[in-house]
Amino acid sequence: MLQRIGILTSGGDAPGMNAAIRACVRTATEYGVTSVGYLDGFSGLVENRYIELDDRTVGNQIQRGGTFLGTSRSKAFLDPDVRAKAVQQMRDIGVEALIVVGGDGSFRGARALEVEHGLAVAGLPGTIDNDVYGTDETIGFDTAVNSAVQAVDKVRDTSESTGMMFFVEVMGRTSGAIAVHTAVAAGAAGVLVPEEQEDFDRLVERLRSSMARGKRSHIIIVAEGEDAGGAFGAAERVGSLLDNEYRVVILGHTQRGGSPTMRDRIIASQSGALAIDALAAGRSGFMIGMQRGQPVEIDLSEVLSHSRPTSRIDFVRLAGRIAG
Ligand code: F6P
Repeated sequence: MLQRIGILTSGGDAPGMNAAIRACVRTATEYGVTSVGYLDGFSGLVENRYIELDDRTVGNQIQRGGTFLGTSRSKAFLDPDVRAKAVQQMRDIGVEALIVVGGDGSFRGARALEVEHGLAVAGLPGTIDNDVYGTDETIGFDTAVNSAVQAVDKVRDTSESTGMMFFVEVMGRTSGAIAVHTAVAAGAAGVLVPEEQEDFDRLVERLRSSMARGKRSHIIIVAEGEDAGGAFGAAERVGSLLDNEYRVVILGHTQRGGSPTMRDRIIASQSGALAIDALAAGRSGFMIGMQRGQPVEIDLSEVLSHSRPTSRIDFVRLAGRIAG
């Protein structure tokens, strides 16, 4: 019978991580299982830095952005000797299972603990990038896109008033998911993402023709990792070909913070509870993903052996078709 679990958040923080921790701890309590929270991701696991978590410590957290446990991108954990020491430290305090809230890089660390040391592990996909295989949506994605859409709506007021064109950079070094969703939802004239080769000439043509038809606001959404060099690179390439003033706006880490949306809170709560149900039933080595609106258990090995196409070509096309 499971007695004690550890929880950590890893990689880039994402809104809804706190809601996930809360759901895990409170469901664990139902089973009579106690919880500890490792601080600053895998760094806390390596350095044996943790706090006891109970129903009260996770109170007043569901609405908060970021992660109250802290997070990091730990390099030390790549070393198998470091992992062995971390597992020993966990066992010394009776921790028999670990829940990792993060992206697929973080899940690789968790899986290594299971394969090398037989530790029970579970993953909850928490990243604003929506780039984890096996789930329709990661925890944090909805909030990040909504933050980006709100920011673009504000930029549009200025664009409409002045006639200036704006290149707005959203996050996603390797993922165009935030960019394509923002572009469609905020009515952008175009979207540039790392996964698709953009036809710059076509974009310039489209902008030229909408300017000729009297359109005043022109917003191009650019993913951070886009080949031309993010929004500054794209602005130079496209803006210089058009006789129209332009500006660059980088949304950056504003997309990572903020109170999670209802959707992220629900996903986090459902996933956290189901992860504990599965661990309590003796299962391990899975991720809880959302598929067709339902939380489901997927083997971590399956998650890690696939990559998820993040930029949706249908959204790229749709943004262009209805840009006006
Ligand atoms: O993975 C989440 C993310 O916010 C990406 O969208 C972005 O490219 C990256 O992290 C930024 O990382 P950092 O906070 O280390 O600059």
